[in-house]
Amino acid sequence: MIDMRNIYRQYIFSILFSLVIVAAHAQTALPLMPYPKEVQLSEGKLYLTEETSLSINGKYSDRLSKEGTQFLRQLVEQTGLFINQSKVVGAIDQATIQVQSLAVGQVEIGEDESYTIQIDQSGVKLNASNDIGASRGLMTLLQLVQADSKGYYWPHVAIDDEPRFRWRGMMIDPSRHFLPVTDLKRNIDAMAAVKLNVLHLHLSDDQGFRFESKVFPKLNSLGTDGNYYSQEELKDIVDYASQKGILIVPEIDVPGHATAILTAYPELGSKDTTYVLERFAGIFDPTLDPTNEEVYVFLDKLFAEIVTIFPGPYFNIGGDENLGKHWNESEHIQKFMKKNGIKSNHELQGYFNLRLQKILAQYEKRMMGWEEIMIDDLEKSALIHSWKGAWEKATPKQSLYKAAAEGYQTILSNGYYLDLMLTTESSYLVDPAPKADNLSDFQRSNILGGEICMWSELVIPQTLESRLWPRAAAIAERFWSPEEIKDVEDMYDRMDHISLWLENFDLKHISEPNRIIRKLAAGHDTEPLHLLLDMVEPMKGYTRNPGGTMYNTFSPYTKWVDAATADAPGARAFNNQVDCYLNSKIGCQDLKPVLESLAENHDQIMKIIADSPSLQEIQSLSANASRVASLALETLDYLETNSKPKSKWFVDAKDILNEASEQGGRTELQVISGVSDLVTALEGEVK
Ligand code: ACM
Repeated sequence: MIDMRNIYRQYIFSILFSLVIVAAHAQTALPLMPYPKEVQLSEGKLYLTEETSLSINGKYSDRLSKEGTQFLRQLVEQTGLFINQSKVVGAIDQATIQVQSLAVGQVEIGEDESYTIQIDQSGVKLNASNDIGASRGLMTLLQLVQADSKGYYWPHVAIDDEPRFRWRGMMIDPSRHFLPVTDLKRNIDAMAAVKLNVLHLHLSDDQGFRFESKVFPKLNSLGTDGNYYSQEELKDIVDYASQKGILIVPEIDVPGHATAILTAYPELGSKDTTYVLERFAGIFDPTLDPTNEEVYVFLDKLFAEIVTIFPGPYFNIGGDENLGKHWNESEHIQKFMKKNGIKSNHELQGYFNLRLQKILAQYEKRMMGWEEIMIDDLEKSALIHSWKGAWEKATPKQSLYKAAAEGYQTILSNGYYLDLMLTTESSYLVDPAPKADNLSDFQRSNILGGEICMWSELVIPQTLESRLWPRAAAIAERFWSPEEIKDVEDMYDRMDHISLWLENFDLKHISEPNRIIRKLAAGHDTEPLHLLLDMVEPMKGYTRNPGGTMYNTFSPYTKWVDAATADAPGARAFNNQVDCYLNSKIGCQDLKPVLESLAENHDQIMKIIADSPSLQEIQSLSANASRVASLALETLDYLETNSKPKSKWFVDAKDILNEASEQGGRTELQVISGVSDLVTALEGEVK
């Protein structure tokens, strides 16, 4: 039997080695993410010792006091050092790390989040104009800790940092699958770790209404399966996020995506019928009736209740994907439209939005909504959330630039839909307002930033993090760092590093996929499964869930595909090495060890499958992976011996590659492109 463990280690080593080569060409000097605006690295290291200490000076703030304590906790856990002196109070010049903050910051868009760090032989100085900026700087300091054979150290460096965009958000959807408070809190910690500053909670949709309403209790008793946030829990979340300098924006999605509301209060619907909670994914017909005054009375009372929990200035009313089928079918709605000169469903939704904008104005809230809320008379205080093109065939950023030109503040999510399971690279290279685009200063000033979107049709608490992280860190960099920081290999290099660092915040993005694999291995050695898993990615876009009907609320979500991540690390390394080999670059790794282990992997996997029926779905995937690996080995032999296979060999090779492109266990093999390149190169040689 081959020694899988050794081969696997050898392979991991080769990945790390390739990262070192990449790092040699790095655009950045330090493994930080988001990368600061200005970094001046000098010779010299400040070693951490048991005497290392922290002082916090300037304007006292509860936030910074707590953040300082957590910083020290992280620092000792990261380094394993028994630091004696913990926190120093009021003895500025005696502490190793001197933090100076001049004010208590407000958790609002546009607040100053800048900071500077100076590290030299005399110690660390972190200066900020307020405690939020200082907290951002503390995260940079934790990321900056390095190690060598003598110990842990900070490099001598001067950093001057501030965000490029004011709105650096993440939308989490606890409606499709409920996500408990503890899960939200872990992700808030991780958001702060990479300097994100807005958490948008999608609190209602067809599958569940997650805000505890004391005024309309049926929203919870009938509009959920029993899972929703109590008002106390939501207040706690708001406080928790505020401590981290993160604003919470609540969303109640209306008039469409309203099945949960209408399951509880069917009399508010556009169709005279009863409704039941939706279990599948998609765009559904249940829609509030904009001609019914009771709808506005209901929303006014509901919003009045919600605004007592969320002190921030923004309230998101959703407004997306209302196809208006029930409006078209309703006689009284059609009559209302005729009587009031309303010519289209879009105009009717505009009428509805304006009514909501007035309701929210009473509570001094700014209306926010998905781009569909944009209509002619909408007041400019509304904030437009641009998203189309995320998976529809709309022009990316069309609504972003249009809203900005018309004087609306706006944010971008097209490109940042992490539920699509696209690679990090594809999101990282989307810029909300690149210099190359012909935008006026006015437009640029209205583009506040962007938001990562994590829809949870296919996500449960155990898998939330592996879908969000570490890709969210790379997008956070796009929102925070200078536009010029965009070298993809350099990003992947730093992201791999930050991904491990994020585990310090108890994130489960690495541990949960490993747990799924352990479960599926049914007591066997997990390495054959990991070898294959590293070569596959979940089906992209919404193809994993055709028509939204393959999976529903109660489907299993800890299967093979749920352990796979959006950037198959083994495949990325392999494809890079193929490129290296074919282009005769220097320092290429031998492709054969991993191919040999993959070629033999199927036999190992079959032994596991025999005890793990849930894995039967990957049988052909695994067989294909081994076949493709054998094909690649044959191709390399031909290339290296300058010999020529018969033309039939190429026909067979293409058949193997085509067959291996089929999904297996809802995942797709990612080494096909590298192996195809090898075969194509061989074809070129023999012509
Ligand atoms: C959306 O993705 N429906 C905003």
